[in-house]
Amino acid sequence: MARRVDRFAIIGGGRVGTAVGNILQRKGEQVVAVASRSSDSLRTVERYIKGVLLTTDVVKAGKKGNAIIITTPDDLIADTCLSLASARAVKKGDYLVHMSGALGLDVLEPAEEMGARTASIHPLQTFADVRGAVRNIPGSVFAVTTREKGPQAWAGGLVRKLGGDPVLLAEEDKTLYHIGAVVASNLLVALEHAAELIYQEIGLHEEKALKALMPLIEGTVRNLRRLGTEKALTGPVARGDIGVLRRHLECLEHEEREQLLKVYTSLSMFALDLAEAEVSKARCEEIEELLLHFS
Ligand SMILES: NC(=O)c1ccc[n+]([C@@H]2O[C@H](COP(=O)([O-])OP(=O)(O)OC[C@H]3O[C@@H](n4cnc5c(N)ncnc54)[C@H](OP(=O)(O)O)[C@@H]3O)[C@@H](O)[C@H]2O)c1
Repeated sequence: MARRVDRFAIIGGGRVGTAVGNILQRKGEQVVAVASRSSDSLRTVERYIKGVLLTTDVVKAGKKGNAIIITTPDDLIADTCLSLASARAVKKGDYLVHMSGALGLDVLEPAEEMGARTASIHPLQTFADVRGAVRNIPGSVFAVTTREKGPQAWAGGLVRKLGGDPVLLAEEDKTLYHIGAVVASNLLVALEHAAELIYQEIGLHEEKALKALMPLIEGTVRNLRRLGTEKALTGPVARGDIGVLRRHLECLEHEEREQLLKVYTSLSMFALDLAEAEVSKARCEEIEELLLHFS
């Protein structure tokens, strides 16, 4: 039997799709087509992926490939799959993959009914632009979700071609997995924005505020990498410094700082969880009581 050769068609020429196509092509893989919504995004794709069909016609792109990667926004994956399946642009034996962290494989069921093998591969990484994605996809952990063993091996192989590290994830765990990623990355950014606003309140200009905070943020990340969460935690909760905590909470007990008070008290509860190894039980209980009082 002739060895199967993957012909990759990418649907969605944004940050992730363009970077995936670029990496695969540089690895010597056959990328045959990229479909995107607008000719604007296709112009960017053209700078990164050479000599392939570039089209706004999803079906045309799908028909050229036997390994289709959907990298549209999450909300459009189900409709994109349906369009491909209804037009028979995905066939028995083809592979169809999406790269969303939040969605399961139900969105790919129309293709599964056509005999295609489905998977999701999600890079546990954040990509603000194509260049960043090209740089950071290699070396990232990828959650691989499949319903069968066959596509599991293939999807793992695809991740390795991208330079990633595949880790299996059950379909039913995807939502919680994705919440973990959002907390670790997106909400960290939101948290830095909260710190930025606090510094603006004491007169620092927006850009200066983040610039001033950057060495602190980077130092924290380095400590996390080196020591893990428990040992990286410093500050009043880690020291059991209840006087400082009370002063912070009283300062935040202000109508306009209501959200900040909620964030401070609830995250301090998680910090307390980490501090329990170092701070006495009695002091931890006092801190908990104080935090609950202000919650
Ligand atoms: N960015 C991240 O940090 C990250 C990380 C992990 C996983 N992911 C996943 O990767 C996938 C892609 O995300 P992304 O950040 O690359 O999104 P993106 O930059 O917004 O790109 C989405 C692309 O899809 C195109 N598109 C929209 N509707 C389409 C349609 N009907 N048919 C074909 N193409 C269409 C858009 O074209 P136009 O530009 O012309 O509108 C755009 O180029 C998502 O599933 C996301 O969850 C993203």
